[in-house]
Amino acid sequence: MWLILWLGCWESVGEERDARVAQMKLHAAMARQAREGVRLGDLDAARRAGVVLLEQKQPPGLHHPAQGYMDQVHRAARGLAQAVTVADAAGGVGGLALACSRCHRAAPWNAQAHAWIDVAGEFREDLDDDALHGWSIERMWDGLLWSREDWFMEGWASAVRSMGPLEPLSSDESWSGRSRRFAGLMETCAGCHGPGAEP
Ligand code: HEC
Ligand code: HEC
Repeated sequence: MWLILWLGCWESVGEERDARVAQMKLHAAMARQAREGVRLGDLDAARRAGVVLLEQKQPPGLHHPAQGYMDQVHRAARGLAQAVTVADAAGGVGGLALACSRCHRAAPWNAQAHAWIDVAGEFREDLDDDALHGWSIERMWDGLLWSREDWFMEGWASAVRSMGPLEPLSSDESWSGRSRRFAGLMETCAGCHGPGAEP
């Protein structure tokens, strides 16, 4: 009897986790679509991603007050959905990464378990500036989502190397300051990668 109850409970925990991970994969795909939309000056893609994120509900089975964090995601998503300029959308992307990271930080079992999610991969000396500035953004992005200061600063340093001088970033900058600097950098991409631009 107890075993059956326990097994039933375990199963629903597993189902909730699967649902949560599936939702997170959608979050990640939409956040990336918004970021790429900003890079390519494709505001429609960024706005569509914002609309999908606005529809997301609180992830199931979290034991900390998650709604406040989803509200922050929705605020950034609304900014994206209503973006009129690339700068609006870039601000939305920075705000979004910050909102995601706040919930990740509040779920400690998760922050520990997922801080390995490393899309950019290790720094490679052989990257030329064209590849390196793309890598820098990826590294800062991973750093923002998982509050990995080492990744963020590594990405920032190689952005300085590959994209030219940037206003210095102090090492005790807050995460919200870092996300704003990231957004500022994202505003510049479409000048080269946007429609009609010759990279
Ligand atoms: C309300 C809290 C919350 C918010 C908001 C949130 N996450 Fe998560 N995220 C989690 C939790 C909890 C996990 C760990 C899931 C698990 O393994 O149980 C997770 C895991 C992930 C994962 C790893 C999934 C995997 O493959 O295992 C990714 C990627 C992710 N989140 C991306 C995002 C992005 C991008 C956003 C913002 C658009 C976001 N998350 C917003 C709580 C949140
Ligand atoms: C001064 C012009 C310029 C700016 C600004 C610029 N890029 Fe690029 N980017 C290039 C050129 C040139 C290439 C190489 C040709 C190509 O792949 O389009 C490139 C390539 C890339 C690539 C492909 C790299 C690879 O792996 O081969 C990515 C990703 C990228 N840029 C991202 C960005 C992002 C994100 C921004 C904004 C933060 C940005 N770029 C800003 C000129 C620029």
